[in-house]
Amino acid sequence: MAGKLKGTKETFYDRWVREVEQVPQIEGLFVKDINRVELLPWRRKGGNGIYINLAFQRVDDAHICEIAPAGALNPEKHLFEELILILNGKGATEIWNEGGEKRTFEWQEGSLFAIPLNCWHRHFNGSGSEPVRYLAITDAPFVLNRFRNLEMVFNCSFVFADRYDGSPDYFNAQGKEHSDAILETNFVPDVRTIPLVEDPHIRSHRFRRFLLAGGTMSVHISEIPPGQYRFAHRHGAGAHIIWLDGKGYDLTWETGTDKKHRIDWQAGTLTSPPDWWYHQHFNTGKTPARMLAFHYNIRVSEIKGDFREFVSSNNKKIPFDTEDPEVREAYRRELAKQGLSPNMEEIYRLEREDGSGSALSPKG
Ligand SMILES: [Fe+2]
Repeated sequence: MAGKLKGTKETFYDRWVREVEQVPQIEGLFVKDINRVELLPWRRKGGNGIYINLAFQRVDDAHICEIAPAGALNPEKHLFEELILILNGKGATEIWNEGGEKRTFEWQEGSLFAIPLNCWHRHFNGSGSEPVRYLAITDAPFVLNRFRNLEMVFNCSFVFADRYDGSPDYFNAQGKEHSDAILETNFVPDVRTIPLVEDPHIRSHRFRRFLLAGGTMSVHISEIPPGQYRFAHRHGAGAHIIWLDGKGYDLTWETGTDKKHRIDWQAGTLTSPPDWWYHQHFNTGKTPARMLAFHYNIRVSEIKGDFREFVSSNNKKIPFDTEDPEVREAYRRELAKQGLSPNMEEIYRLEREDGSGSALSPKG
């Protein structure tokens, strides 16, 4: 879907991308397959890449970057947070605080990690024959538009020792379990296969939430069983969803309008719901569909309150019993094309009984 910034001026961040980075920006509501997007040379990074600015917002962004076989990107550090999902290939990242010892950790397709704030880092391709491609979600738009000073953002000498202490086992994939299926960790080896857990508060909901590298951004995985869909909900801008497997579609629409945009998704589709737009996920495949959802600005102490309010507030969701009947009818027709049928009765019943209903992700 072709996209333009609606009614917003070009920001400091946009000028930086255009004039300094000189890398194109993809805009709109989604990218069909981030594994197939054409990438262009990116001088500062020392690889190929592209910026992705979905949902008409400038709080967070995405970019794809590719490392040539046997190659490495340039070292960098910055005052914005960065979460990285390895899309294909294998390699390693060197990381160090200014003046500190360099540590290296290895990753592969499906690995998820965060760059601790303002740490130097350098990514290496571990293969001599295959390129590495990764997806990064950052809050660069917010940070750059706040400071409006590249020297401050990219060459600040402050060391956030509270975020990264230089410990040799910082990226060892050991984490600290919290309630509500939250894992505080700095490295997830493979998001495609990590087991999910039942949410004790929202029955039928299987998910996992990660807090990485002491950051304010977070990530969760959520899975929609075959024959099921989520109720429509809305929230602030900044969520990015990458579908890891399965197939289905989203409906999304601006609050106060009837025009529903349908986005068909598959493994590799990236979407981002615009600020306060309703959106709803439908699984049309025969297998569970797993999404990885990145969120802007959630901290540990805020999760519970945010989560509860999100689930209980009818202002933010459309309960199944009040949704447009055409929504479920269209879903039934879509499944029937493949000889499948909806498996929603239990979900509807749970919502009627205690409001828990569908597997709802707080900002996915
Ligand atoms: Fe959402």
